[in-house]
Amino acid sequence: MGRIIALSNHKGGVGKTTSVVNIGAALNKLNKRILLVDMDPQANLTQSLGVENPENTIYEALKGENELDPIEIQENFHLIASTLDLSGAEMELSNEAGREFLLAELLNPIKDNYDYILIDCPPSLGLLTINSLACADDLFIPLQPHYLAIKGLTKIIEVKEKVKKRINKKIEITGVFITLYDKRKVLHRDVVETINTYFDSKVFNARIRDNISLAEAPSVGLDIFRYCPTCYGSIDYMLLSKEILKRFNDK
Ligand SMILES: Nc1ncnc2c1ncn2[C@@H]1O[C@H](COP(=O)(O)OP(=O)(O)OP(=O)(O)O)[C@@H](O)[C@H]1O
Ligand SMILES: [Mg+2]
Repeated sequence: MGRIIALSNHKGGVGKTTSVVNIGAALNKLNKRILLVDMDPQANLTQSLGVENPENTIYEALKGENELDPIEIQENFHLIASTLDLSGAEMELSNEAGREFLLAELLNPIKDNYDYILIDCPPSLGLLTINSLACADDLFIPLQPHYLAIKGLTKIIEVKEKVKKRINKKIEITGVFITLYDKRKVLHRDVVETINTYFDSKVFNARIRDNISLAEAPSVGLDIFRYCPTCYGSIDYMLLSKEILKRFNDK
């Protein structure tokens, strides 16, 4: 049964998209069937994988105009693409009955074709994020080790609690991980300590270091394993992904 993981943090630029691409690619290298879903109107996930002008997008599917038609990036590594059009969805779908469950309905029939479905959420807590949380088994929160990054966390936890109470009882925060980490910075070490105290065992040991190759790879439409298999970015995302499988008791 496909496990759905939403990566969300309403703070922008914390590494959500980079993590969806590269956790997805790492799990695929570990022989898992992976679907990535781009729920962000910025369409960074789609662009990061080198997909331009996709014909069949999540926007049309959410509006009921198309069925989901995943694009094959590599074998067992698929993408549901997005475009800027999706920015209209929050408004256009706001009066639909069952508007929180549109993504869940779309994913249900194809869920079992995959081991893991990773959803890239936008940096906001609107309807697109609510749809993502409504169908997710797990919520992962990527965090940059900055003081202000932890300040805003109460908001996403509050939203997740509301979703859990009202629309999706199964959702849990099962993973928090640190991105853009630089161990030479005292601030980073301090903030990580605070995060560990707060989230305790939910925090993954693997930290994603600041690595320029991770920022370069999207410009050529590749995940880090195809762009630079020996870089820190590859090493860190592989370690994190192995830890994810261990946490889910998945061999
Ligand atoms: N570990 C890293 N090392 C270096 N650069 C990184 C790393 N992770 C992400 N980046 C770069 O930082 C920027 C923000 O990352 P990303 O787009 O993944 O964040 P995001 O949370 O998805 O942003 P948004 O909230 O806008 O969707 C990008 O330019 C990305 O290439
Ligand atoms: Mg993003």
